[in-house]
Amino acid sequence: MATFANLKKILVNIPRAVRDPGRAVSLAYRRMFPFGISPKDPEAYRIGAWSFGDLPRVDLREIFPGIDAAEVRVLRSYDRKRDLSLDAQEVLALMAIASFIQPKKIIEIGTSDGNTTVNLLANAADEAVITTFDLPVDWSGDFEIYVPEMMRNVTDRSAVGRQYRSSVYADRVIQVLGDSAQVDFDQLDGPFDLAFIDGCHFYDYVKKDTENVLGRMSPGGVVVWHDYGMLSDVSRAVDELPRDMNIKVVAGTRLAIARLAS
Ligand SMILES: C[S@@+](CC[C@H](N)C(=O)[O-])C[C@H]1O[C@@H](n2cnc3c(N)ncnc32)[C@H](O)[C@@H]1O
Repeated sequence: MATFANLKKILVNIPRAVRDPGRAVSLAYRRMFPFGISPKDPEAYRIGAWSFGDLPRVDLREIFPGIDAAEVRVLRSYDRKRDLSLDAQEVLALMAIASFIQPKKIIEIGTSDGNTTVNLLANAADEAVITTFDLPVDWSGDFEIYVPEMMRNVTDRSAVGRQYRSSVYADRVIQVLGDSAQVDFDQLDGPFDLAFIDGCHFYDYVKKDTENVLGRMSPGGVVVWHDYGMLSDVSRAVDELPRDMNIKVVAGTRLAIARLAS
């Protein structure tokens, strides 16, 4: 389908190229052979480094037919940190999913300052509740599972949940402060309709978080992993999941998505 769309685009553009061949060649050259070009926009380097993982990168509408009609609310649009939070394209995709499927119970592993937490609630069902995890405020420095120094991604403890705490959604957040590998998921207020896995990015943790989350999802639920393609550990853990889960990555994002069987 993508190939047909590309062919159609080329055919439509031929008359324009004939009218302005110099510009057409220059544009085509840049698109097809980007070698030797040094991008001016830092975003080009950021996205260019998303080179891990084997899953297909597809349009969000291929995963959720009909999602085009979803309306999205974005709160605190610029109160997010580069490479820690979701980027704008990812916020749009994840919130479109929330708006489209209208989850009532959501689980997030990795709260950080709560930008995604508050946005998920702004787009989910009116009565939706989110259970979100982060390490304790007085965290000892020990993980339940061994994590190499380079793979520790603990954020500022005093800022955990900052954004949702000052929002109208604060009373619909269940904040779990604990190591995600230590918490008993059977005690949580599930089953969950939407899960967002974005805690510790070390392979063993992604595997454990995934296993725990999959055990508490409702039929037809949606699981989303962040940092697919950018981090090899996350990509490997997701790639190893059964092929019949039909996981796909939203093109232009680091979001891997599984729609579970109903
Ligand atoms: C990438 S940030 C989450 C970003 C957030 N989901 C967002 O979209 O803005 C990862 C968070 O996971 C937390 N974290 C790291 N290891 C964890 C663990 N073992 N258990 C629970 N939380 C953990 C970190 O403290 C950090 O706040």
